[in-house]
Amino acid sequence: MNDSHSDTLVFFGATGDLAYKKIFPALQAMVKRGTLNVPVIGVAKAGWTLDQLKARAKDSVEKHGGLDKEAFKKLSELLRYVDGDYNDATIFKTLCREIGDARRPAYYLAIPPSAFGTVVEQLSKSGCTKGNGGTRVIVEKPFGRDLESAKDLNAILLKMFDEKAIFRIDHYLGKAPVHNMLFFRFANAMLEPFWSRHHIDSIQITMAEDFGVQGRGAFYDQVGTVRDVVQNHLFQVMANLAMEPPIRTDSESIRDEKVKVLKAIPPIEVEDLVRGQFKGYQNEPGVAPGSKVETFAALRLEIDSWRWRGVPFYIRAGKSLAVTCTEILVRLRKPPTMYCHYSLKSNYFRFRISPDVAAAFGLNVISPKNESVSQVTELLADRHPTAKEMDAYERVLTDAMAGDPTLFAREDYVEEAWRIVDPMLKSDTPIYEYEPKSWGPKEADHIKPPGGWDNPVIKTEK
Ligand code: BG6
Repeated sequence: MNDSHSDTLVFFGATGDLAYKKIFPALQAMVKRGTLNVPVIGVAKAGWTLDQLKARAKDSVEKHGGLDKEAFKKLSELLRYVDGDYNDATIFKTLCREIGDARRPAYYLAIPPSAFGTVVEQLSKSGCTKGNGGTRVIVEKPFGRDLESAKDLNAILLKMFDEKAIFRIDHYLGKAPVHNMLFFRFANAMLEPFWSRHHIDSIQITMAEDFGVQGRGAFYDQVGTVRDVVQNHLFQVMANLAMEPPIRTDSESIRDEKVKVLKAIPPIEVEDLVRGQFKGYQNEPGVAPGSKVETFAALRLEIDSWRWRGVPFYIRAGKSLAVTCTEILVRLRKPPTMYCHYSLKSNYFRFRISPDVAAAFGLNVISPKNESVSQVTELLADRHPTAKEMDAYERVLTDAMAGDPTLFAREDYVEEAWRIVDPMLKSDTPIYEYEPKSWGPKEADHIKPPGGWDNPVIKTEK
């Protein structure tokens, strides 16, 4: 551990759903890899004991990824627990005692944003962070629900922490294929001449999930698709596709380029948004009867920059769709061909982020079976299962503890992202019903990309 590494991890929300599904498995993986060897203090209001927390952690890793006996034993030795209400100053005194001599604690707020203010204020009053220049705060999404609330949250955090010490998680950035998109773009000089309005006709980003809200109805009904995955995860994917090569590889140079992409995007017009809701959503526990919250969104936007002006970006995401897959299709302009008797398709680059990883080029060739027919064939640059990759939560927690901010959203980035979606979120656009296991409402064709929506196909290996 070097002297910029956090020397204690305190995580609020230790008995919650996120801790159970993602955080404990990530912590076990970090111990196994040797990146976590400091006390881990869970904080929650559950009336639990440390043994109960350990039992929950064991159950969590068994259900999500598997128990590694040796690593779990070490994690269990690192675990501590503080129970109580976040409004109660005494639990923060207990917490300070648990933190002891640690100089650089990382406070991870795996709690609803409505509780950030209380926790940050209590931390500050209790003196848990006094004199510790290396204190960090790691915060979970959703980071606000519009521009104004995001600004308020930033103001709360900035009262006590420097921007450099704030790590806003977007777990999509921890996914290897998402950050490897930058490698693919900037490590291959052959892409650059194509990578602009001169050759690219349109870009589609699809994040489809074939399941519903999975018991998270009460949360989802406050949020909807645009806030849940578009404004954060899919904008990050778009920024990786569209950003300029950074001038240096340090975190700020990379984050500067991402912010520039967002700054060049005008607010999305209501006619460029189609919202849908799958049939049966309103019967989900926690969902309000008559809810007008979207479980599907399709939208079009433009990046008004030298490289991208005139190239439409289409983003589509939804629950209860036909497949589970996140994929990007970069469609090139058609050639001015003399082969007009062939029905040529556009060339394209395809990046798949999940459930498997792929980077492929689509090209027209003459069918070996019939010389008068052309067909698209794919040159695969990469294809592999996601199973062997480091889990996104492990990566972001490892980076936050190590103090590397590259994969985290900066204040200006978050605010720009909200600026783009804010007006449309506040407008009362219609919500169209769609059949579960479909590709969303047919009205999504109102903003159909040239060449149509590309519906990812999941091939099962023979
Ligand atoms: C979360 C959203 O941030 O991302 C969920 O709240 C969504 O609704 C999930 O299902 C998708 O992430 P992943 O890593 O499972 O693709």
